[in-house]
Amino acid sequence: MTKPDLSVNIGKIKMKNPVTVASGTFGFGQEMADFYDLGRLGAITVKGTSLEPWSGNDYPRTVETPSGMLNAIGLQNDGLDAFVNEKLPFLRQFDVPVIVNVVGQSVYEYARVSEVLGKTEGVHGLELNVSCPNVKKGCLAFGNSPEGIAEVVKAVREVTDLTLITKLSPNVTDVVSIAKAAVEAGSDALSLINTLLGVAIDPWRKKFRLANITGGLSGPAVKPIALRMVWQVAQAVDVPIIGMGGIMNEMDAVEFMLAGADAVAVGTGNFVNPMAAVEIIDGIEEYLASANISDVKQIVGAVGK
Ligand SMILES: Cc1cc2nc3c(=O)[nH]c(=O)nc-3n(C[C@H](O)[C@H](O)[C@H](O)COP(=O)(O)O)c2cc1C
Repeated sequence: MTKPDLSVNIGKIKMKNPVTVASGTFGFGQEMADFYDLGRLGAITVKGTSLEPWSGNDYPRTVETPSGMLNAIGLQNDGLDAFVNEKLPFLRQFDVPVIVNVVGQSVYEYARVSEVLGKTEGVHGLELNVSCPNVKKGCLAFGNSPEGIAEVVKAVREVTDLTLITKLSPNVTDVVSIAKAAVEAGSDALSLINTLLGVAIDPWRKKFRLANITGGLSGPAVKPIALRMVWQVAQAVDVPIIGMGGIMNEMDAVEFMLAGADAVAVGTGNFVNPMAAVEIIDGIEEYLASANISDVKQIVGAVGK
């Protein structure tokens, strides 16, 4: 059998395979380029970028928990200008679409960052992070209601033609109504899930382990929740979905695609094994070949069929 076709499209973004990396777990690619050619990825999704630099939360910001980790980085980043002038030139040398994760404290900030990136060479898509649980202002405040998410997406849609991917939070009662609102407001695609709000306590010191007290839970512990949400949302909307949450190996990735994800993102898995994303690409190809499937798109949403 000839090699299976791994290519997928997320809006106007053409990915040579369905695997990207989850924002915030891959920096801006510089450190990871020591491990493999970044051009092997289907896309690179970079760390959250805001209009002005953000300093993030106090330390400690991460803690390991059974089957996952809690983080409360607080979206530390050097801001839009530093991204465009210092990080993007490095990424432009690779044959890979770049998706920028956008964060803001106001609708204006989301729109302004998106407008500038829309005119910047080498940016292929925007992932609107309206789901970060670790900052006090903005962000999840928009993502936890259909009205809030629609307001941000509409404002961004008006200022750019770039492919818009809205990243959904699992910390909501009804993810489907929020997904629908994002699509109706003009989102070309959805990504899910962001982290789940959690707490860890040190019983000997009788203290919270994170300075921020609460943090976002990621890793294998969240996978069943992420799969459930991807499956629910895939039934309800007609746009591409990037699924993530606890993907550590190719079989996890295949499960997400069977549930309805057109592409997947590897997050916490990068910390455990820096080669995880490329091993997952190879593993998906082997899975398809051994199941005699010629095109990865054939497995999308195929659970139970
Ligand atoms: C250390 C860390 C930093 C993160 N930073 C961001 C971020 O800047 N923007 C964002 O949308 N999500 C961020 N996330 C969430 C991930 O992109 C992803 O949605 C989540 O971790 C679930 O996937 P996983 O279980 O494979 O890690 C971060 C996660 C971690 C662990």
